[in-house]
Amino acid sequence: MSERGPRRGLRLLRLALLAAALPAAATLIVTSAGAADDAAQLAAGKALFVGGAMPPCALCHTLKDAGTSGAVGPVLDELQPDAARVATALRTGIGAMPSYKATLKEEQILALARYVAKASGGAN
Ligand code: HEC
Repeated sequence: MSERGPRRGLRLLRLALLAAALPAAATLIVTSAGAADDAAQLAAGKALFVGGAMPPCALCHTLKDAGTSGAVGPVLDELQPDAARVATALRTGIGAMPSYKATLKEEQILALARYVAKASGGAN
């Protein structure tokens, strides 16, 4: 028995709906993968801050989110540096703070920069 118009139309409609829904689903998947990356980067940054970097940022800086109370450098919760400012300080060093260019990989510098900016309330 051959299919009649209305049935076929319904099937086409279903296909069209599916096709319309796919990009939205793909976007959702990509977005949540991005969120996971983000969380992983922030966690890596925090670990470096409290002890992974050498010398540890914690030694000299207070940052509430990290639970540190160093008092050699500025209180980061008050300074609220954005990520670019943190990254620059890490690459070049500033005042009594050493450069981390030789001891941290670029991705570690970026993770620290994102973490400090976010945790201190500075912009991304
Ligand atoms: C030996 C102590 C010391 C350590 C360790 C240290 N800092 Fe600093 N930091 C300082 C001092 C001192 C300043 C202020 C320098 C100045 O303005 O002359 C500073 C400044 C900063 C600034 C502000 C930069 C600016 O543009 O004003 C940021 C952001 C920062 N530190 C982040 C970090 C991070 C992240 C780490 C760990 C990777 C770290 N610091 C490790 C002492 C330290």
